Order: sequence, then C-alpha cells, then structure tokens
Amino acid sequence: MTIAEADSLARDRLSDRRYYHTQCVAKAARELAPRFGADPDRAELAGFLHDIFKEESDAVLLKTLGTSDIIGDKDLARKHALWHAFAAAEYASEVLGLDWEICDAIRYHTSGREGMTPLDMTLFLADYISEDRRYDDCVRVRKTAERDVHEALLEGLRYTITDLLERNAVIDPRTLDAYNSCVRDL
Ligand SMILES: [Fe+2]
Ligand SMILES: [Fe+2]
Repeated sequence: MTIAEADSLARDRLSDRRYYHTQCVAKAARELAPRFGADPDRAELAGFLHDIFKEESDAVLLKTLGTSDIIGDKDLARKHALWHAFAAAEYASEVLGLDWEICDAIRYHTSGREGMTPLDMTLFLADYISEDRRYDDCVRVRKTAERDVHEALLEGLRYTITDLLERNAVIDPRTLDAYNSCVRDL
C-alpha cells in the first residue's frame, strides 16, 4: 500500500475534523521517525491509518475485533478508547495485508506496550503531539520533544496514566508496562 492510498482511505472513512487530525499525525510521524530510528515512509503510512476506525459504530468495531487478542480481555467494555486502535490493526493486517510492525504500531498507538518498537514510539508520540492538539499536556510534551523524543514519550505516558487516574478510568496494563519499560531505558 502506498502513502497516497492510505491517505485516500483515511479521507474516505473520516469526518473533516478527524481527517485533519490524521494528516497532522502522519506529518508528525514522518518528522519524528528518524529521531526514533524508524522509517519515515512507514511512519507516515501508519499515521494515515491509525484512526481509520475512530468513527465506526461499536457493532462494526466488535465485529472487526473478532480475531484480536483484546476480545478475551475481561475489561474490554471499560477500555472503549482502545477498540478503534485494535480494530484498525486487524483491518490493516487482514484486509490491507500490511506487515506486523506497521499493524502493531497502529494497535498500540493509544495504550503503548512493553518494549515498544521505534515505529510504536513514533506513532504514539506523533498522536500525542500532533499540531491539531491544543491542550496543555500536549503543548508541554511537544516542547520536550524538541529536545528529547524519548523523554517526551515518557512524559506523554505519564500524562496519559495521570489523566486515567483522575477520571477513575481503567488503566490498561500495557500502558503501565510501556511506562515502566521507558523508565528503565532512560
Ligand atoms: Fe487513536
Ligand atoms: Fe489519533
């Protein structure tokens, strides 16, 4: 699949607002990729695909998640924010035939995971600091990323966990694993 094809798939599936976010993430991913040691073309492609299920109904998401490992998760209902990422990864793998590295980066762009690959880290941070995002935590992490992308990733994970704690929301263990492995690697 080419970047142009991924772009047009995103354009077809998303509202103007979500497509704009996707464009910003794809652009940020291309820019961040070399700093994490990832390939800029693959990062941009993953950026265009990361949210293609963001506006789907729960019925479509659950159907697409049929073969995903999240479906056996007892807290699935309380991890609604992760459904679109896992569904997009399933689609990227099963329908688009993309390789595991791109599919995993899409799958873990919201939760993170233990031992994130360079492409995982690129997409997670690109989604966090894309230029359409205006809230304070994102502005701070964007500033940190100018200096150090690994520190920015850790900061983004910390804010994600803090935000979930403050909202009494379930924290996916993958996010804690991502945080712990980033702290260990600093
Ligand atoms: Fe997303
Ligand atoms: Fe996103």
